[in-house]
Amino acid sequence: MSQTNILAIETSADETSVAIGQGHATKKTFRLLGHVVYSQIHVHRKTGGIVPEVAARAHIPKIIPAVKLALKKAKIRLQDINALAVTTGPGLITSLMVGVDTAKTLAFALGKPIIPINHLEGHLLSALFTPSPREGRVGKGLFPALGLIVSGGHTLLVFIKQIGHYKMLGQTLDDAAGECFDKVAKLLGLPYPGGPALAALARAGNPKAVDFPRPMIDSKNFNFSFAGLKTAVLYFLRDRGSPLLSPRGRGMKGEGFQLKANIAASAEQAIVDVLVAKTLRAAKEYRVKTVLLGGGVAANQKLRQTLKIGLKQEIPTSNLRLPTSELTTDNAGMIALAAFYHYLAHDVTTFDKVKANPNLELRSWR
Ligand code: KG4
Ligand code: ZN
Repeated sequence: MSQTNILAIETSADETSVAIGQGHATKKTFRLLGHVVYSQIHVHRKTGGIVPEVAARAHIPKIIPAVKLALKKAKIRLQDINALAVTTGPGLITSLMVGVDTAKTLAFALGKPIIPINHLEGHLLSALFTPSPREGRVGKGLFPALGLIVSGGHTLLVFIKQIGHYKMLGQTLDDAAGECFDKVAKLLGLPYPGGPALAALARAGNPKAVDFPRPMIDSKNFNFSFAGLKTAVLYFLRDRGSPLLSPRGRGMKGEGFQLKANIAASAEQAIVDVLVAKTLRAAKEYRVKTVLLGGGVAANQKLRQTLKIGLKQEIPTSNLRLPTSELTTDNAGMIALAAFYHYLAHDVTTFDKVKANPNLELRSWR
C-alpha cells in the first residue's frame, strides 16, 4: 500500500495536539489532513508559567476530543489509521504520559504499530512541510543541512547529514532563547507567554537604543548562553531607578512606553544577532546546502528576516526553510511528519515497547 495514514499525538508541555497525516511512500510526500492544537495558555497565564501537575490535568479532558476532531477534519475513520505516533520526550513527564498512554491504548485496540518520536526531531524537521504549508516533500539536494531549534526549553544547532542522521554541534549552557524572551518580557510586565508579547512591543521600539551584550557571539564553539542577557536588562532598569520595575510603572504610556519598547527591541536584536551569527558560522563550516529553523521562537519575524538576509549575503547558494506559524510552537503535525520518515525506514514498534522519557536526547536512528 503506498498511502499511509498516521495519527500523531503531542502533549510534551502545554499544548494538547493531534494530527492526521497521509504519506505517500513512492512519491515521498506527506500531507496534513487534520490538525488540532488545544492551547493551555489561558490556564497558565494565572501563574505566569507552566505548573507541571496543572498542565497534565488539563491535557486529560482534551485529548480524546482532540483525536475525534482531528479525524473529523481529516475525514478519516479511526479504523483507517495505519500507524500511531507519539512524542515520548523530552518534556514534562506527567504531560508526556497523557499522550503516550493514549497512543499506546489506540495502538493496542487497533492492532497497529506505533512510532515513538523525539520532540526535538519534530521541531528539527517541521520546516520540511514548506514550500507548501501542509505538504512535506524531501527534495533532492537538501542535505547536508543545519537545524536551528529555538524553543522555550531548547536552543540547539544540529548538523543533519540526512534525515535520521544527526550530530549535535552546540546548545545553550543555561537559558533557552525562548526562556530569555519570556524572562525579559516578565521584567517588562508583559503577559505570559512573553515571547510573542515582547516581539509585538519591539516593533514600536528602536533596536539600537540599548547596546545589550551578545553572549558568546565570538566564542569558537557553537554553544549559547542567554541567562546574562536577562540580568543585563534587569541591571539596566535598576541602574536608572526605572519605574518599569514597580507594578505602577508597567502600565505607563508616553515616555515610559517608548522606553519599554526600546528595551524590547534591543533585547530582541541581541538574541537574534547571537542566533544568526552562530548559525551562519556553522552553516559555512559544515558546508550545508540548507538551513532548517524550528521551535516556538521560529515564529519571530525579526529572526526569520535576519536569517534570510544573512544567508543570502554570506551563502547565496543555500536554501532556507522556515516552518509555517502553525508548525512553530508545539504541535502534532511535526510529530506526524517525523513519524512518516521512521515509517518509511520500517522503524516502528509495538505499544508495549513505548515509554515516556522526560530527558530523552536527540540521537541518530540510522
Ligand atoms: O516550541 P515551543 O512551543 O515550546 C517548547 O518546546 O518550549 O516554544 C515556546 C517558546 C516560548 O518561550 C515562547 O515565548 C516562544 O517560543 N515564542 C516566541 C514567539 N512565539 C513564541 N519568541 C519570540 N517571538 C515570537 N514571536
Ligand atoms: Zn517544543
